[in-house]
Amino acid sequence: MTSTAAIADPATGERNGRTPALELRKISKSFGAVRAARQVSFEVHRGEVMGLLGDNGAGKTTVVNCISGSHQPDSGQILIDGAPVGIPDPQTARALGIETVYQDLALVETLDVTSNMFLGRELKRRWPLLQWTAWMDRKRMQRETQENLDRLHIDIPSVKSTVAHLSGGQRQAISVGRAVAWGRHIVLLDEPAAALGVEQTDLVLALIRRLRDEGVAVVLISHNMHDVLEACDRVVVLRHGAKIGQIDDLAGLTTRHLVDMITGVTLGGRDVRYTES
Ligand SMILES: Nc1ncnc2c1ncn2[C@@H]1O[C@H](COP(=O)(O)OP(=O)(O)OP(=O)(O)O)[C@@H](O)[C@H]1O
Ligand SMILES: [Mg+2]
Repeated sequence: MTSTAAIADPATGERNGRTPALELRKISKSFGAVRAARQVSFEVHRGEVMGLLGDNGAGKTTVVNCISGSHQPDSGQILIDGAPVGIPDPQTARALGIETVYQDLALVETLDVTSNMFLGRELKRRWPLLQWTAWMDRKRMQRETQENLDRLHIDIPSVKSTVAHLSGGQRQAISVGRAVAWGRHIVLLDEPAAALGVEQTDLVLALIRRLRDEGVAVVLISHNMHDVLEACDRVVVLRHGAKIGQIDDLAGLTTRHLVDMITGVTLGGRDVRYTES
């Protein structure tokens, strides 16, 4: 049974009297004739990992891109800490404490690891004309990048390595590391472990748990149901752009249950809350 204590009030999105860190209200987004997201609503609380599930083309990335400022929803509302916000671009999302690991990783291949880590938030120089201050900033960014990677146990040849020379898994680790390092409030992870080996996947799942323990609200998209069961507290399922249900308590669920829910087969007697949309 879904625990009634965990069910959100549909009017306010509040669960257990707490205001969600992130709430979507009836977000819709079309690309021409394709209705990629149809009135999608959900909420994510601090210290919680919410799995956003669905088959290929279900609308998961579209929804995440609306939250990260990469897309503008056609209609609906996004609320951060209960306040409606406009997120016209990724810079605004970052200023709101939202960090994203994009499905395509969004790294600049021609730049090195440090530059990618600080992309869009390079340390400002006080005296732009003085070369040595630029050099100092660079050194500082390299040191901080190395510290962050060490802290997260991310192993790459050097922070001076050009991203184009790194493996797919190393790029993915940097993209996740960047989000974990900067994510203060909300972290959106679109397939963060897709290209990772077993050990690196475990590392990413551990990072997600650490974010949760630090009180960050996390949205995790994954096609790997083992990872979902391992990392997520709740799941929301999309099909053809619409939310078709959510499970607030994953205890006792198997990967089969989740696959059945995604593909629309029976739910093995499991109590799933279906939405009005
Ligand atoms: N920029 C775009 N222009 C046109 N159509 C798009 C665009 N982005 C997404 N779509 C369409 O919207 C639908 C949802 O795509 P989306 O990328 O959100 O799916 P997804 O759930 O992330 O799938 P996957 O698991 O394969 O990543 C698809 O039909 C896709 O073709
Ligand atoms: Mg996607």
